[in-house]
Amino acid sequence: MTNANSNPLPRKPVRIDPRVPWLADMRRLLSPMSGVTDRPFRDLCRPMGVDMGFCEFASASGLMFDSESTWKLVDTIGEEGRVGIQIFGSDPEHMGTAARLLSKMHMDVLDINFGCPAKKVVKKSGGSALLADLPLLQEILHAVIASSEVPVTAKIRTGWDEDSVNYREVGLLLQEAGLPWVTMHGRTKAQKYSGKANWDRIADLVETLDIPVIGNGDVVDGETYRQMVEHTRCHGVMIGRGAIGHPWIFEQMKAVDEGRPDPVIDFSEMCRVTCDHIRGEVELRGPKTGCYVVRKHIAKCFKGYPGAAHLRRRLFGTEDASEMIAILNEAAAAGDPRLGEV
Ligand SMILES: Cc1cc2nc3c(=O)[nH]c(=O)nc-3n(C[C@H](O)[C@H](O)[C@H](O)COP(=O)(O)O)c2cc1C
Repeated sequence: MTNANSNPLPRKPVRIDPRVPWLADMRRLLSPMSGVTDRPFRDLCRPMGVDMGFCEFASASGLMFDSESTWKLVDTIGEEGRVGIQIFGSDPEHMGTAARLLSKMHMDVLDINFGCPAKKVVKKSGGSALLADLPLLQEILHAVIASSEVPVTAKIRTGWDEDSVNYREVGLLLQEAGLPWVTMHGRTKAQKYSGKANWDRIADLVETLDIPVIGNGDVVDGETYRQMVEHTRCHGVMIGRGAIGHPWIFEQMKAVDEGRPDPVIDFSEMCRVTCDHIRGEVELRGPKTGCYVVRKHIAKCFKGYPGAAHLRRRLFGTEDASEMIAILNEAAAAGDPRLGEV
């Protein structure tokens, strides 16, 4: 796949909040993903061309009650580059307190999760449940804005279900509250991750609001990035699943932005980056969990390569980080398996 399109992508001119002048250049964002976008992964995506990374969501109540594991999720101290922290919850007081407590962390924005469909979050009226309770959503919004030392942003879905699609109303409400931007995943809560993200609705939100809209949903490479921006005129794109095992997606997106051909992803580079990822996760989580966490990346990383199944089996067959690294080094030394193909 090549990209010979050197025209700049057709983005809608937007009003940039003077508190975040750098937003003008934010095009490629890493979505918050629970269990995925931890510090090692964010650090790994940055040199690939990500403009801003988000920590996995953190429970406001967990932060307020000083849960060590929750605070670990928002460890951004000393992190280089733009970073956002995301919180979820349904109690305005807890959300406000969490925003205040987070002021000691390093972050460029504090994002509120109004989109999570997970049962454990929705059952307590957090995440996407708030799309169906706008008075509570507003209460939370104002509590967080009043307590946060950094600008507050929000990530939404298109609505609770097809009968209550309300992204326009929610988007306008968020704009009115003074948010510098809004991110929208183009699915309803009821869809979870099924079906396709509705890019028409993202395009509609872009046209409805003056502030930037960050589009999200189903972008998996440079070409789909280009298609989403052409379709919606969104200011930037957030990448979730497309980055798992494939942080190079940000290189592909950057190439699109710069009108360069699709970059070739080098096999030995894939192995090297995976080794770095293992080291980072082991340092953060300890040897066993560290290795385990990288597995979901490995499962996707070598997909389609000749011998990938065998390589994966070997890597999954051990919980020893140094053994995994040795296997990857050996694979890298053997050269790109695609070159052996006729
Ligand atoms: C494993 C996983 C964890 C996620 N965790 C979060 C989260 O913590 N906060 C959030 O706003 N969205 C979360 N999401 C949703 C993604 O950020 C994103 O909105 C969604 O996957 C759609 O984008 P995509 O098609 O690029 O993956 C998660 C998604 C996945 C697959």
